[in-house]
Amino acid sequence: MAPVKDSAAADDSLRTHLRAATMAAHDLLDHAMQAASGWQTRSDYARFLALQHAARVPLEDWLAHHAPGDLSPPPQTPLLARDLAALGLGLPAPAPGLTASKPAAGEALGTAWVLAGSALGNRAIAKQVARIGGGEWPTAFLGDDTMMAFWQGLRARIERPAEPDEAEGATRAAEAVFAHFLAVAEHGHAPESLPA
Ligand code: HEM
Repeated sequence: MAPVKDSAAADDSLRTHLRAATMAAHDLLDHAMQAASGWQTRSDYARFLALQHAARVPLEDWLAHHAPGDLSPPPQTPLLARDLAALGLGLPAPAPGLTASKPAAGEALGTAWVLAGSALGNRAIAKQVARIGGGEWPTAFLGDDTMMAFWQGLRARIERPAEPDEAEGATRAAEAVFAHFLAVAEHGHAPESLPA
């Protein structure tokens, strides 16, 4: 499922720019995650949650140290840990961390956009998971309302044009975050074996 065009965002807005710049990366990631885990069975879904957890730990850590409060999305890793525990699983090893350098203009914004924007896709996945799992599988992560509330607030920041250095930093960071998720999906930092 690729991001669809949203008429709410003006064409010269930062959001439109970020979506265009990362559309191919998003498609690649969507396919890689479906190949690496998907959510067709309980163990697929557990692997999906484990991948999400492994990828998000260093990103949330980086944001906690470098992003201003209004660009720190609510952490998702505690919700992922809760879902994994409900499936009888421990936590996977986190993916390698990001460089701890001070962010340039726009980098925290671009990182926050990817993490918060993924909640849009999560809504669609949640519906499928509810159907496939017969409503039995835990969905603290996929159904997180606080991330959707954060997303609504972030829209005001991105549905307007940005200064060139901010747009450049946000794009660079967004591309790096997609590449990070892709590496986790392709090289599997999730546990090797999960119960069926
Ligand atoms: C695993 C499979 C995935 C599926 C099926 C999926 C699906 C979607 C869908 C349907 C949308 C569009 C929602 C809308 O416009 O109303 C979307 C947007 C988006 N997704 Fe994904 N997604 C997936 C994974 C990810 C991941 C892992 C990330 C990043 C960590 C991500 C980041 C984003 C971003 C940044 C947007 C755009 C937000 C915006 O419109 O500004 N997605 N996704």
